[in-house]
Amino acid sequence: MTSIPASLPLRNDLIGEEPYGAPQLDVPVCLNVNENPYPLDEQVADSIARRVREVAQTLNRYPDREHVQLRQAFCDYLAHESGTRLGVEQLWGANGSNEIMLQIFQAFGGPGRTALGCDPTYSMYPEYARDTFTEWKVIHRRDDFTIDLDATLEGIADIRPSIVLLTSPNNPTGTNLPLEDVRTLLDACGRIQVAGAAEGTHPVVVIDEAYVEFRNPGTPSAVSLIPAYRNLAVSRTMSKAFAFAGARVGYLAADRGIVDCLRIVRMPYHLSAITQASALAAFEHTDLQLRRVAKLRETRDETAAWLKRQRYHGASLQVADSESNFLLFGKFDDRQKVFDMLLDRGILIRVVGPDHWLRVCMGTDEEMAAFRSAFTEVLSQIDD
Ligand SMILES: Cc1ncc(COP(=O)(O)O)c(C=O)c1O
Repeated sequence: MTSIPASLPLRNDLIGEEPYGAPQLDVPVCLNVNENPYPLDEQVADSIARRVREVAQTLNRYPDREHVQLRQAFCDYLAHESGTRLGVEQLWGANGSNEIMLQIFQAFGGPGRTALGCDPTYSMYPEYARDTFTEWKVIHRRDDFTIDLDATLEGIADIRPSIVLLTSPNNPTGTNLPLEDVRTLLDACGRIQVAGAAEGTHPVVVIDEAYVEFRNPGTPSAVSLIPAYRNLAVSRTMSKAFAFAGARVGYLAADRGIVDCLRIVRMPYHLSAITQASALAAFEHTDLQLRRVAKLRETRDETAAWLKRQRYHGASLQVADSESNFLLFGKFDDRQKVFDMLLDRGILIRVVGPDHWLRVCMGTDEEMAAFRSAFTEVLSQIDD
């Protein structure tokens, strides 16, 4: 809970608001914030230590504001991971994709502008909108959590947003957004004039690919569409697949024009020399870092199959199709009770998304075994 004296001139629209964030509890098994459960390899940690040591004596100077070396590393990684080679001027980094997204809202949102998304989706989006005085509107996803393409196209035509923000795979559902749909949306946005903006302006379509490395093999990334669409931006992060959440590194791939818009709103020297050095060190070991992504995909598929075999009040559980490192499962009459009972057993998951559903992110084999055993116990007690 916040403790804000009434004498402080907090913005009127922020009065009564609470800071965003899942509880950070000290429990044995944390499966609540979609982190990568595997610590960095020794070799990666050593490279980070070496690179950080090298920059330590230059910390009296500001870092490279344009973080060119790191942007080159993003390019090389994307060429390797998604098969699309972009130029350095098409990449941009920030402190987590949270900051990338805030910069997008700062550059393209604002008073009189609307951003459009498809819910249920990542719960930070309305906060970026609030913080930049942008209106946030949503089109509801279908029952299977895929986007309703026709309704979304209609929404875009009616609202004429400046930002269309879609997540693939989506959080908290894990749903992939087919590239064909992205193309259809981009083509539609190319024909739409943004409400309240200058003649000839079109919505920016942002695909948040925070979890994209966990997608099923063979699924293309929206990065492959960047050469063809100037209004497309793809946001990525090192937090998930790279097990780098604590380092805070996110990045954006887009046409150079979009990157130049973000350069206008970024804070000067927003990426510290230590952050840049750490990320460069992690990219020295891309294959090692990504080895565990395949393992987490397996864990996800096994856990989904196991959850579907569990019974709650005599019926099988539902599990949303996920191409991510987490699963949304339900439905529970009282999801808070299930969450609390798991927490009593040392397992922290997340109450998020539509009512009656819970989200669990994939852990190590030991953590998943602990989850299964606690959840089996919870289900049997509930059904007693
Ligand atoms: C969909 C989505 N986008 C972006 C983020 C932000 O990630 P980060 O700021 O760590 O890059 C998250 C974090 O959980 C997320 O779920």
